[in-house]
Amino acid sequence: MSDMTRWKERTALVTGASSGIGRAIALELAARGLNVVVCARREERLRELVKEIEADGGTALAVRADLCKDDDIMALFEVIRDQFGGVDVLINNAGFGKSESLLTGDHHRWRSMLGVNVLALAICTREAIKDMRRRDVDGHVIHISSMSAHRVSEGGGMYSATKFAVRSLTESLRRELRGIDSDIRITSISPGYVETEFAKVFHESTEKARQNYGQYKVLQPEDIADTIRHVLGAPQHVQYHDILMRPTRQDN
Ligand SMILES: NC(=O)c1ccc[n+]([C@@H]2O[C@H](COP(=O)([O-])OP(=O)(O)OC[C@H]3O[C@@H](n4cnc5c(N)ncnc54)[C@H](OP(=O)(O)O)[C@@H]3O)[C@@H](O)[C@H]2O)c1
Repeated sequence: MSDMTRWKERTALVTGASSGIGRAIALELAARGLNVVVCARREERLRELVKEIEADGGTALAVRADLCKDDDIMALFEVIRDQFGGVDVLINNAGFGKSESLLTGDHHRWRSMLGVNVLALAICTREAIKDMRRRDVDGHVIHISSMSAHRVSEGGGMYSATKFAVRSLTESLRRELRGIDSDIRITSISPGYVETEFAKVFHESTEKARQNYGQYKVLQPEDIADTIRHVLGAPQHVQYHDILMRPTRQDN
């Protein structure tokens, strides 16, 4: 049975909350009574989100951070420690893909994808778990992975590589946590098509994004937020490892 009451007034960090899935998750967690810290590069959007949460009686804090920059990540965690004592729930959501050939692609873009989707996720996880262990909190880390962690798609070679890495990091972290007999939980969620800004960024084309999301009813950001609520609300002895979720009509 799903019970979110244990998380009330605890602190969640949602990375990449300026749009799409992260935004929906931040709204969901704030509605369940968590203090929500939202980060991304587009600060104005974060401020709007905080206003929306506060207007509904919730507590939120916006921190601008470029997750490609180590200093930004460290400063983000310091702010959270100062204001809330530390992170109890980490949603590693920030990420992006670019359609880039492995034969001719731009390696700067490969590096940025690896930086945000893999390295930042691993650094944020380490920092959040430090906070949890210092305060003896049985927290929860959730990675927003992708169906691209489970198969490859055209043009998505490096993007898929980053998400395959997330899959490996999920299982490796689970084992490390078992190794120290910790009750901190780790979960990965792997969605198929979700209607966000993702496809426009991936294809660098509004038209292609429209085709992507217009072929049939695709997942909505709120569908992922619902799953997060279910995962976080599971009893302490239940750990979801990887949840694959596609639009019903998606065939790949
Ligand atoms: N939409 C899909 O079909 C789909 C499917 C499977 C998995 N996913 C995964 O879902 C996650 C969220 O994506 P979305 O679909 O919600 O796409 P989105 O609407 O484009 O959101 C991506 C978020 O990541 C943030 N971000 C990107 N680079 C960043 C950086 N350097 N520093 C800080 N934040 C950064 C963006 O914020 P700023 O630009 O403001 O920095 C934005 O808030 C990603 O990990 C993606 O791989 C998406």
